[in-house]
Amino acid sequence: MVSLTLGLAIAVGSILWVELVRDFYHLLAHLWRPLYRLHVWHHRVFRPDLVAVSDTIYRQAHWYNDVPEALVMLAFSLLPWGLVYSWHLNPQWLAVTGSVYTLFFLISAIARGLGIPHADELTDLTHRPGNFTSLPSRWLVNRPYHWRHHFDNQNAYFCGTFTLVDKLIGTALSLKGKTIAVTGASGSLGQALLKQLHLKGAKVIALTSSVQIITLDIEGKDLSIKTIAWQVGKESDLLPVLEQIDILILNHGINVHGERTETAIATSYEVNTFSIWRLLELFLKTVRTNEDIVRKEIWINTSEAEVSPAISPLYELSKRTLGDLVTLRRLDAPCIVRKLILGPFKSNLNPIGVMSADWVAKQIVNFAIRDMRNIIVAINPLTFIIFPIKEFFVSTYFKIFSHPPRNR
Ligand SMILES: NC(=O)c1ccc[n+]([C@@H]2O[C@H](COP(=O)([O-])OP(=O)(O)OC[C@H]3O[C@@H](n4cnc5c(N)ncnc54)[C@H](OP(=O)(O)O)[C@@H]3O)[C@@H](O)[C@H]2O)c1
Repeated sequence: MVSLTLGLAIAVGSILWVELVRDFYHLLAHLWRPLYRLHVWHHRVFRPDLVAVSDTIYRQAHWYNDVPEALVMLAFSLLPWGLVYSWHLNPQWLAVTGSVYTLFFLISAIARGLGIPHADELTDLTHRPGNFTSLPSRWLVNRPYHWRHHFDNQNAYFCGTFTLVDKLIGTALSLKGKTIAVTGASGSLGQALLKQLHLKGAKVIALTSSVQIITLDIEGKDLSIKTIAWQVGKESDLLPVLEQIDILILNHGINVHGERTETAIATSYEVNTFSIWRLLELFLKTVRTNEDIVRKEIWINTSEAEVSPAISPLYELSKRTLGDLVTLRRLDAPCIVRKLILGPFKSNLNPIGVMSADWVAKQIVNFAIRDMRNIIVAINPLTFIIFPIKEFFVSTYFKIFSHPPRNR
């Protein structure tokens, strides 16, 4: 039993190792000019619909990029052999798994370089043309994930098979050049998020229900940013703006604290739940093309109140309903929907919050570029355990007892 487990670990470890080598080779190819001269052939091959520009360039790219990459992986695949041998781990022969695995990539790259018919269909799966039928995957690189490396930002999305390296170095989502709009822009977190996103190279838009132009403090200087006014109940007025937006962050919210009047109930649900749900639906309608599917995203600030008390019953009720609606709706969403699960931070809404809005905003961006779909920033350690469990079970329940739209 022990040797079976160890054997499995050796085999899987040797594959993971060569995949790490592949991703670092790719990263190096973008950082080191001499290697980039070879790698750039790979970037010359495809049009945005992933149809090859020409058969000659397609084949050439394999000789200059894919074959050398596989040879480097093959050379490094010997390292696990050496380790297993010197540490006297058994069964030693399983360390060959990484090399055999790499040989498959080497032979298929040679086959594509030689132009052997159908070699690409069988072995070059992340570059196949056609409509995207799924979202960028979280753990395994699929076509929508890899498309972004070619046509969104070549300095991100480096991974070839597993997305681990991109998650570690923060290149699993590029914000550079993206148009990102934030609601609740005049509030503490709204302003802090706009600043962090601006610093990451995004083109930010403030969506506010107030009349002021939003300015950001960037290195001691005031920077006025594009500000668009909107009102709860008039969400559809924002549709032309939403069409232009890559990432929409729904962050506005209200806390009626201890109130429980009819007005307090209506306001809490209208602002915290239904206006956000209406904006979510409007935004999802703007996702139409392959490019929209991979570039557009929506982040929704539902709060830690989804799973723990906020000492404000109507705040909890409205945020929990919102949280569940998002869980339900993202089962069929045509683009990535992230949840922001935030613990208490200081703001108008929560003057006794413990964290600072700036720190929270920094963490949100740090997790987003690592492609976390549920971004938890909290001081309560239980939230990190309870929220994922709750989300898993609620999502599974919704999946089993509801169905996708029948006219899809
Ligand atoms: N502070 C916390 O401890 C905490 C914890 C977890 C989650 N959250 C959530 O984080 C988000 C941001 O809150 P914050 O703490 O930064 O509070 P904040 O400073 O009060 O900001 C909230 C913003 O929401 C917008 N808003 C308020 N009432 C509105 C209305 N009736 N219609 C449209 N917009 C309205 C306002 O922005 P505009 O005037 O620009 O529209 C307001 O500045 C909220 O969703 C909140 O629930 C906060």
